[in-house]
Amino acid sequence: MAAAGGAEHLRLCINIDHVATIRQARLADEPDPALAAVQCEAAGADGITAHLREDRRHIQDADIDAVMRTIRTPFNLEMALTDEMLAIALRLRPHQVTLVPERRQEVTTEGGLDVTRDPGRLRDGLTRLAAAGIRTSLFVDPDPRMIDASAARGAMAIELHTGRYAHASSDPATLAALRDGAIRARSAGLAVHAGHGLTVANVGAVAAIGEIEELNIGHHIISRAVFVGIAAAVREMRTAMDAARVP
Ligand code: PXP
Repeated sequence: MAAAGGAEHLRLCINIDHVATIRQARLADEPDPALAAVQCEAAGADGITAHLREDRRHIQDADIDAVMRTIRTPFNLEMALTDEMLAIALRLRPHQVTLVPERRQEVTTEGGLDVTRDPGRLRDGLTRLAAAGIRTSLFVDPDPRMIDASAARGAMAIELHTGRYAHASSDPATLAALRDGAIRARSAGLAVHAGHGLTVANVGAVAAIGEIEELNIGHHIISRAVFVGIAAAVREMRTAMDAARVP
């Protein structure tokens, strides 16, 4: 049984960016993100996510081609809303595009997208992606203004930024914001995803939010893979999610 009011199956999508980070540290040809993606799928992943950054610091264009050719589960392309990325997405037509903010100097995506800025451009981008048959999602903070604006711009889904919760999971307000945000988004007709900073230790409370149907998790799983292998790392996360999802 799913949590009250929730999706039956909480999808686990693995972000494989940091497989490419290791490769790029040596500008070598291993480890191969596409091979990692296939092993994640074999271990039970429901989808694969990769962020093609403007600076190409980890995932390269050829990785996206290889992953999309190889995997059997849905592919979620994370990208900034730039002309270059939009052209790539419209050419490749991934299952889903998640729009994220991007700043060159940041270590990782630091905050959610400001969906109140340049609404015309965002609406146009979402319309063009949807017209190409691509499911659209916006990575936003669990802020009512951002959630309402995401629905108003025509997104199909939002991904709630779980970073604040992950950094302060003992503060009940960070979890309450995710729970309230998920409920608000669902009632606005948006599908609800979540991710950033999730680990086996903190995923439970997020997985228990019934409105959430997809989690995007990368760094912790790739880190655990160093010690236990990628298949075991995926299974550990799946087990932690499933334990929390049962009411
Ligand atoms: N979701 C989005 C939109 C992200 O930008 C990232 C990080 O690339 C993740 C999920 C995964 O975060 P983490 O690597 O901390 O699990």
